[in-house]
Amino acid sequence: MKDKIVVKVSDVKKYFPLDGVTVKALKSCNLNIAQGEMVSIMGPSGSGKSTLMNLIGCLDKPTEGKISINKRGTENLEADDLAQIRNEEIGFVFQNFNLLPRMTALDNVELPLIYAGIKRNRRRKIAQEKLEAVGLANRLHHYPNQLSGGQQQRVAIARALVNNPKIIIADEPTGNLDTKAGMEIMKILKNLHRQGNTIIIVTHDLYIAKKSQRIIKLKDGVIDNGI
Ligand SMILES: Nc1ncnc2c1ncn2[C@@H]1O[C@H](COP(=O)(O)OP(=O)(O)OP(=O)(O)O)[C@@H](O)[C@H]1O
Ligand SMILES: [Mg+2]
Repeated sequence: MKDKIVVKVSDVKKYFPLDGVTVKALKSCNLNIAQGEMVSIMGPSGSGKSTLMNLIGCLDKPTEGKISINKRGTENLEADDLAQIRNEEIGFVFQNFNLLPRMTALDNVELPLIYAGIKRNRRRKIAQEKLEAVGLANRLHHYPNQLSGGQQQRVAIARALVNNPKIIIADEPTGNLDTKAGMEIMKILKNLHRQGNTIIIVTHDLYIAKKSQRIIKLKDGVIDNGI
């Protein structure tokens, strides 16, 4: 049986106008990612990795070309519909965790469920379960600055998983962590992969990249198929 493609990037270009010049962050990218795959994206700083992740994660739209998530084209969608795809299908994990500092771990994880219109009691229960699943049962009421980097990233993963997305995008999830905390995050991502989720990780670390099934290299805004 042919693999089901869940992320399809076709001739995608992304240009940023900046002070009268155009930064060509992605020049022409083609990429298929199959359901259940674990893929790493590597490449020098400035090669376009985060730009590509933001497009796949529906945080931004390409200048040209098409991105389909689960066969649904995103090019003609308005911001609200893009946000809906993002909420339902994609969990995003960032290098700097992106937690809200004035909210506890539990409140941070609950946030996407508020947007999804889930009632308070159920929200609490789901958020608590997700935090327990990443080993933070005893940190529910801590604020981000009361948690270690690795713990903050685990809260961010719990938040990314709270709507049960099937695609998890992690842009340098271990970039701000020491080796041990980074390995714990990788263990969680590996587990999610084993459960059938599609995982896309950006990393500078070959050791981490090798934990995935495929390494995609970006160079100067182009996917590098060379040797
Ligand atoms: N909003 C923006 N406006 C202008 N230029 C941008 C914008 N976002 C990214 N760029 C430029 O696009 C290029 C690609 O940036 P991107 O953040 O995708 O790189 P990256 O591969 O993720 O790098 P790093 O490894 O340092 O995170 C860079 O030259 C960057 O300066
Ligand atoms: Mg980046």
